[in-house]
Amino acid sequence: MKNSYTGKEQYYGDYLALDKILDAQFPESEAQNVEAHDEMLFIIIHQAYELWFKQIMHDLDSILEIFMNDEIDDNSAGMQIATHRLGRVIEIWKLLVNQVRVLETMTPMDFLDFRDLLTPASGFQSFQFRLLETKLGLKMEHRFAQKYYQQQLREEHIQAVEKAETNPSLFELLDQWLSRMPFWIVDKYWANFELPEGADESLHPFWGAYRKIYQAGLQAGERESISMKAFDQIFMGMDGREMRLSANACRAALFITLYREYPLLQQPYRLLNMVLEIDELMATFRYRHIIMVRRMIGMRAGTGGSSGAGYLKGAMEKHQIFAELNSLATYLVPRQKLPKLPKGLESKLSFRL
Ligand code: HEM
Repeated sequence: MKNSYTGKEQYYGDYLALDKILDAQFPESEAQNVEAHDEMLFIIIHQAYELWFKQIMHDLDSILEIFMNDEIDDNSAGMQIATHRLGRVIEIWKLLVNQVRVLETMTPMDFLDFRDLLTPASGFQSFQFRLLETKLGLKMEHRFAQKYYQQQLREEHIQAVEKAETNPSLFELLDQWLSRMPFWIVDKYWANFELPEGADESLHPFWGAYRKIYQAGLQAGERESISMKAFDQIFMGMDGREMRLSANACRAALFITLYREYPLLQQPYRLLNMVLEIDELMATFRYRHIIMVRRMIGMRAGTGGSSGAGYLKGAMEKHQIFAELNSLATYLVPRQKLPKLPKGLESKLSFRL
């Protein structure tokens, strides 16, 4: 087989364009005749991260495309492909978290040998990392220390991130997908559903019952910290709601989590879990990065000009994308207290004929 780019017979190095990749490390210390052995590691490790970011986005783009299809069915091939590829993204993030350890073999003094030579370049300017956050659902208005973006990113990169924000993110597409779940919309299932005493009859029977059961299960200490007002805002969309995830989507996500043992809900549950795992792994990467930064530069400023570890801590706390999905765990009740689903709906969620 001929290589389409070189026109020659396929050869390992040509196929992988190794001449380009292996000729893309330019330590400043070498050019400036400064002794700094570890600058090569520093460059290669960043390049390895960037290659994996590229792969993650390649998979993520295909997942977004699948979710853009209004007709997506939970048992469709598209859904299987999306979960399979999300699984791959998870494995890559595990690798990226662990990769920090390799860089930690460089000591603070080794880093100081060349640190000034790269200023003001910084991982903050990783355009692929910014795009990745955007595609997952982080908007500029929700970012920590927004002023740094204007100061540090090249204009073309700011524009590309802004452009990416105009396309639906995984967060938005998941919201739409969850909102389309039809469990309680079909009235016939709920006609004879029994409500516990004191349940709010103005709500849908399931939610009236669930609200009552949840409230009754709160422990004395919890009644002060968890208000039913918040429950009504999150799940019923009542006034004062501040969440980004819609009330419809929150109800569906909670329902899927509660009844995940039904065959039809297993795949959606898996998917929700995967998204949470990606968020958790990215937070873990941020955390490992902060620990490494503290060890490497202590409380000094970053090469990009931020406050360093202080900035990174703020970003870690603010940039979690699916935090609201995660926080739904506050509203679970034990299995034995769950309302029994109507027969018609039960068989729809099962493999039974
Ligand atoms: C000696 C090693 C490293 C040090 C001391 C370091 C330090 C820092 C600091 C201080 C910042 C804050 C921005 C600034 O003022 O510069 C930052 C941001 C960042 N760094 Fe590193 N870094 C190191 C290695 C890495 C590696 C290997 C990666 C992998 C891609 C990376 C990715 C990032 C990213 C993505 C940000 C932006 C984080 C955010 O805004 O949430 N860094 N780094």
